[in-house]
Amino acid sequence: MDGNGRWAQARNLPRTEGHKAGEHSLFEVVDGCLEAGVEWLTVYAFSTENWRRPKDEVRFLINFNEEILLRRRDELNERGVRIRFIGRRDWRVPKRLIKRMDEASELTRHNRKLTFTIAFNYGGRAEIVDAVREIAASGVNPKKITEKTIAKHLYDAEMPDPDLVIRTSGEFRISNFLLWQLAYSELIFTDTPWPEFQREQLFAAIGDYQERERRFGGVDSGS
Ligand code: FPP
Repeated sequence: MDGNGRWAQARNLPRTEGHKAGEHSLFEVVDGCLEAGVEWLTVYAFSTENWRRPKDEVRFLINFNEEILLRRRDELNERGVRIRFIGRRDWRVPKRLIKRMDEASELTRHNRKLTFTIAFNYGGRAEIVDAVREIAASGVNPKKITEKTIAKHLYDAEMPDPDLVIRTSGEFRISNFLLWQLAYSELIFTDTPWPEFQREQLFAAIGDYQERERRFGGVDSGS
């Protein structure tokens, strides 16, 4: 959900106004996924690197995430959305926010229409490190470790690898997002800043994705 800060600054607004505008985009995208029949949506809400931002912005983002969870959880629940979280639950994540995360997951755990995963205090490398630590601690024979073993120890072992990753706001980087999972994902980079990314832009990205040919390292079945 990149570009909130720049979108706001370009309008002489504080960066936090960009995040507020980003909430509308987020729910447009949730609606768009429900309408298009997308069953898994994962958003990068706060990275392990985002703690480096000015204190006030970090505080704002934490409170904002908590507030959105409280304000929107019932509506998401009624619409069949299952809320889940990936990321490190270390000392930096306030206990109150962890409580809200657990409440939202618990409330929506039987829903299946859309699994909406929020990456909070998430880093792709940290996720792989955490998986490796768990595997090492289990005492498994190193020769028995396969790709499946690693996948089983990621934060959400049930989450399928993404078909499509969309990065907004004109940056051409992965920035530590789902490093293991996106080995074969299709990537779309758009100049649109997150606050201007609406249902229409989502559908355009899905349309682009549908035009692509995925070979997963093999050859085209038609040739
Ligand atoms: C990146 O823009 C955006 C974020 C760091 C956070 C966005 C968070 C939300 C919209 C709320 C999500 C809440 C839930 C509960 C999922 P940026 O600040 O990096 O923009 P810039 O690159 O222009 O500076």
